[in-house]
Amino acid sequence: VEKFRKDYKEPDYWVRNVDLLIQIHDGQTTVRGKLSAERRKGAQESATLRLDAEDVEVVSVLLNGKELSSSDYHFPEKDVLEIKCGLPDKFELETVVKIKPEDNTQLSGLYKSSSMYCTQCEAEGFRRITPMLDRPDVMAKYKVRIEADQKSCPVLLSNGNLVSKGEMGEGRHFAEWEDPFPKPSYLFAVVAGDLGSIKDTFTTRSGRKVALEIFSEHANVDQLDWAMQSLKDSMKWDEERFGLEYDLDIYNIVAVNDFNMGAMENKGLNVFNTACVLAKPSTATDSDYERVQGVIAHEYFHNWTGNRVTCRDWFQLTLKEGLTVFRDQQFSADMTSEAVKRIEDVRILRAAQFPQDDSPMAHPIRPESYIAMDNFYTATVYNKGAEVIGMYQTLLGKEGFRKGMDLYFKRHDGTAVTCDDFRAAMADANGVDLEQFERWYTQAGTPTVEAKASYSADKQRFELVLSQSCGPSPGQPTKQPYHIPVRVGLIGKDGKDLVPERVLELKEASQTFVFEGVKEEPVVSLLRGFSAPVNVKLPRSDEELAFLMANDQDSFNRWEAGQELFTRSILANVKAFQDGKDMELPQVIVDAAKRTLLLEDIDKSLQAYALTLPSLLTLGAKMDVIDPDALVAACKFVKESMAKKLRAEFETAYKSNQLPSEPFRNDADAVGRRRIKNVCLDYLMALKEDKYTKLCLDQALQSTAMTDLVAATSLLAGSSDEAARKQALENFYEKHAKGNDLILCKWFTMQAMADVTTSLSDVGALLQHPDFSLKNPNKCRSVIGAFAGNMKHFHAADGSGYRWLTDRILDIDKMNPQMSARLVSSFSTFRRYDQKRQALIKAELERLIATSGLSRDAYEIASKSLKA
Ligand code: ARG
Ligand code: ZN
Repeated sequence: VEKFRKDYKEPDYWVRNVDLLIQIHDGQTTVRGKLSAERRKGAQESATLRLDAEDVEVVSVLLNGKELSSSDYHFPEKDVLEIKCGLPDKFELETVVKIKPEDNTQLSGLYKSSSMYCTQCEAEGFRRITPMLDRPDVMAKYKVRIEADQKSCPVLLSNGNLVSKGEMGEGRHFAEWEDPFPKPSYLFAVVAGDLGSIKDTFTTRSGRKVALEIFSEHANVDQLDWAMQSLKDSMKWDEERFGLEYDLDIYNIVAVNDFNMGAMENKGLNVFNTACVLAKPSTATDSDYERVQGVIAHEYFHNWTGNRVTCRDWFQLTLKEGLTVFRDQQFSADMTSEAVKRIEDVRILRAAQFPQDDSPMAHPIRPESYIAMDNFYTATVYNKGAEVIGMYQTLLGKEGFRKGMDLYFKRHDGTAVTCDDFRAAMADANGVDLEQFERWYTQAGTPTVEAKASYSADKQRFELVLSQSCGPSPGQPTKQPYHIPVRVGLIGKDGKDLVPERVLELKEASQTFVFEGVKEEPVVSLLRGFSAPVNVKLPRSDEELAFLMANDQDSFNRWEAGQELFTRSILANVKAFQDGKDMELPQVIVDAAKRTLLLEDIDKSLQAYALTLPSLLTLGAKMDVIDPDALVAACKFVKESMAKKLRAEFETAYKSNQLPSEPFRNDADAVGRRRIKNVCLDYLMALKEDKYTKLCLDQALQSTAMTDLVAATSLLAGSSDEAARKQALENFYEKHAKGNDLILCKWFTMQAMADVTTSLSDVGALLQHPDFSLKNPNKCRSVIGAFAGNMKHFHAADGSGYRWLTDRILDIDKMNPQMSARLVSSFSTFRRYDQKRQALIKAELERLIATSGLSRDAYEIASKSLKA
């Protein structure tokens, strides 16, 4: 059944308190849930109480302490427990249910991961633990008693404060937790297991001493320090930037092996995928360190944006996710480099969100309907949602944005609200009109902003005509104009801005903006800092782009100009490849790249990103019809030609950016050096010469930094030098991956992504590897998800990749629908490919839909993808 945003109604009953007793026994867990509830004022007295209840075996139901006869309640439809007898205005309803965490392969609700019991309740997992009004606008205070075996589960955790614990005899013990803050059920959590931990404290600005503790399996306790540091940095940052302090005496984090997503912000008890929390120099890459820092911050920031102020209904998800992603991005920018972080975020947006916005799965950041809510934890809701929040800040300034945030908390602390409430707080705090801005929440699709420039030397006047348009998306044939902040600079011949930078507010379909006192004809720098999630169209010469690449004071647009140059050349070569003509690399690009490579006092990360080609997905989005073979060939050609011309420069930069192996550093300079060094290696390897294969193999065999090991081994995994390939992969497995699940995932991924002729059979073999498990989401993503991102081999013209993925989806769907649905979405962009591939994928989507017992999660993505 599909749910619609417009159908939102308050519930007939509120639950004010939840009192839980969770008795964990090996093989079976009993949950006694006591709900103190009351009828909503204004609700009909005859309104029935319909509790959500999924995969729970109801043993008994009690009303105000009296057991109900089985004729007083029933299951009118799947996953609903309805109370049939009359209910007083206020009452206590108690249920006793049995559940089997050991058999819960969906990883939603209470489940067992390795040796620990843990929960995931967002979005709708709480109902798999105990019957409840499982919706975010029902906020209750929780009290929890956990009982378990003392030996296998010495650690018993839940939200809030520990109020008592003790032994019960017969080898069992208990712990009681109480959370003073009312919360929606999706923020509930329980963990029980044999865990190690590290501890620290943080004293808030107003003097509250918070006990911090991060738990993991004992073997991983040496990989928790970076997460702890990141947590303390986040707590401090949120006080300084937004005046937000932590509100409990305890903050716990637990690392779990089997987890569908990255992490979860449960009140006072975050649960994390190990991939987003574990890090130490010998096992984590620089990007792993960055991810841990970002996700720790993200979940911490949810304490205010998500927990203290939560969502009224799931259509509002971006209210907390877009805002919290924006906050973690700002934090990471402050911890590392604003310019580098901005480039990384835009790269992700373009590779993951732009294609979605141009597919049958396109949806506004605030969707209008869903079948399975878990399908809407998307790049659109998260990443485009964060861009929309960023536009408020661009329009209102940092101070204005802060005023809006302050008002938002003042008005809504402790309640469940909507995206409109957030927008109203921003508007009211600043006395501005943000009516039109709502369209970012109602319309899907990536707008295009087209610019036409004209200059009058006489009048020293520069005019910019900006027009906007946005193509159709599902259910939205036409679009209304957006309110778009366009940050603009005008650059003179000397490379300096001629007039102060401006943020133009484009609100009409087309608008003219005039700049006076412009002394010479400028080069316009449009959409600085990527001030809106749009595509820009502006006719320019290659030379103009090279000029911007070298001179724009906006580091984002310097990078952007280079990307545009690369994109042009690659797309031109795609055409040449298709027409059987010779491919060519324009000299301007070589010169521009050379200049970048020779810059002395440049941030090395910026240098590295400036020389990195746009991702295949980003390039594909710019093609009328994606031709995987031509695209891969054109990229290879550009890389190889560049390497031929700049061989000496790449070699020099490779050597000069080596770092001593001791001591390990992960400061910005060290990270930047590794980044540029590995970009150079990538270019040199494109030459396919023994000399460079040897260089790469040396790095693969001898490095101590995981970043360097992964970079070199990945390159060799795609090498046609069989011996070197084998040696590197074996070495990586034996010396680094064996016995470490997260590194094994890296090893799987580099093989699944490799461009080698045996690709599909190699990947098939990985599934048989003793270290692989279909039940573990990280492993699934690392092999199956990664292969679905292998542009050339997943899209093999004979459809073998498509068939293989469908078979895997069907295997996984029986165990874990959230996971299988994610994989189905690899097919969603199929209309962007040629007719033959479209037909092949369509057949696979139809095969999925025709499968009896397919989960609603997978069904939703497959059926929506097929809609025209
Ligand atoms: N709220 C979590 C976050 O920090 C994500 C939870 C997603 N859960 C899910 N079942 N889709 O972003
Ligand atoms: Zn989140």
